[in-house]
Amino acid sequence: MGKIILTGDRPTGRLHVGHYVGSLRRRVELQNSGEYEKIFIMIADAQALTDNIENPEKVRQNILEVALDYLSCGLDPSKTTILIQSQIPELYELTAYYMDLVTVSRLQRNPTVKSEIQMRNFEASIPVGFFTYPISQAADITAFKATTVPVGVDQLPMIEQTKEIVHKFNSVYAEVLVDPDALLPENQACMRLPGIDGKAKMSKSLGNCIYLSDTPDEVRKKIMSMYTDPTHIQVSDPGHIEGNTVFTYLDAFCRPEHFERYLPDYANLDELKAHYQRGGLGDVKVKRFLNSVLEETLEPIRARRREFEKDIPEVYQILKRGSEAAEEVAAQTLSEVKDAMKINYFSDEELIRSQSEKYSRSE
Ligand code: TRP
Repeated sequence: MGKIILTGDRPTGRLHVGHYVGSLRRRVELQNSGEYEKIFIMIADAQALTDNIENPEKVRQNILEVALDYLSCGLDPSKTTILIQSQIPELYELTAYYMDLVTVSRLQRNPTVKSEIQMRNFEASIPVGFFTYPISQAADITAFKATTVPVGVDQLPMIEQTKEIVHKFNSVYAEVLVDPDALLPENQACMRLPGIDGKAKMSKSLGNCIYLSDTPDEVRKKIMSMYTDPTHIQVSDPGHIEGNTVFTYLDAFCRPEHFERYLPDYANLDELKAHYQRGGLGDVKVKRFLNSVLEETLEPIRARRREFEKDIPEVYQILKRGSEAAEEVAAQTLSEVKDAMKINYFSDEELIRSQSEKYSRSE
């Protein structure tokens, strides 16, 4: 059987360069590799609502933002099915049945949910839907029989939970569900790109993001204000690379050919780093280089975005067609799940026949 990808994002904001190196870039490569039989990318609006009950309008607005970000990065609806989670009711039927296979204490041990509960001050009042979203995420993944789930490290506990549900389901009922594997970003810098302030994570609430849809001017200003090495005061001072945001971004974005084009005095990133560490290389020069590298990445994305922005109704059509195609697949899986669970009374002729036989015998 061919390999199938499913992954997704919560529509709570525009996507930023952390999403790009952490996942989007890879998704487009996988899409174009031809190695996957099917690719599903989900805008997880229902999951976003689990901790945004007061903000339905925010979620609604960001569905289009995320869709535009996807399309502008090169996800191609003729190769990739882009769907909206809430439009596939089968996912919630699956979620309900999977709930029987998971204990409360297992959910309480999910490290991602644990830290999210802390971050949101939910300790005393966790919405049930939020607490159980790992189960609904298992439904997302298994409904499409995904073999491969490209995600960041923070999502590993969700894949773990999904695998447990798959094993449990398949051993209790029948081999219906596919056991998925996570596909992690290629290096440490891509795994968790820090914000421009050097803080651990790029996050809208910290105001430290570079968005895919930022203008060149906004990007340049953000790069110029980036956190570097506070001990590197004079150009001649030796500098540090570790924890230096500009170099972390270069680790994530820079390729050797960027040096030929924008900084031919150096052959590669290692040479640039070595010079910085020796002393004699100023932050501004490195930042300008990073700006050129980022612009080369972002400009084609912006250009494609402008094209899609010209026909917003068509973008909604893409989402509608994607959701319809996805629903067919999810409905097929649900029907197999119900067969395995023996809750297929009206479509199981064998059941009706054997029951009538039983009663005709007892007459
Ligand atoms: N939890 C993911 C996030 O916060 C979004 C998501 C929902 C997802 N369903 C998924 C990711 C299924 C991978 C597979 O980014």
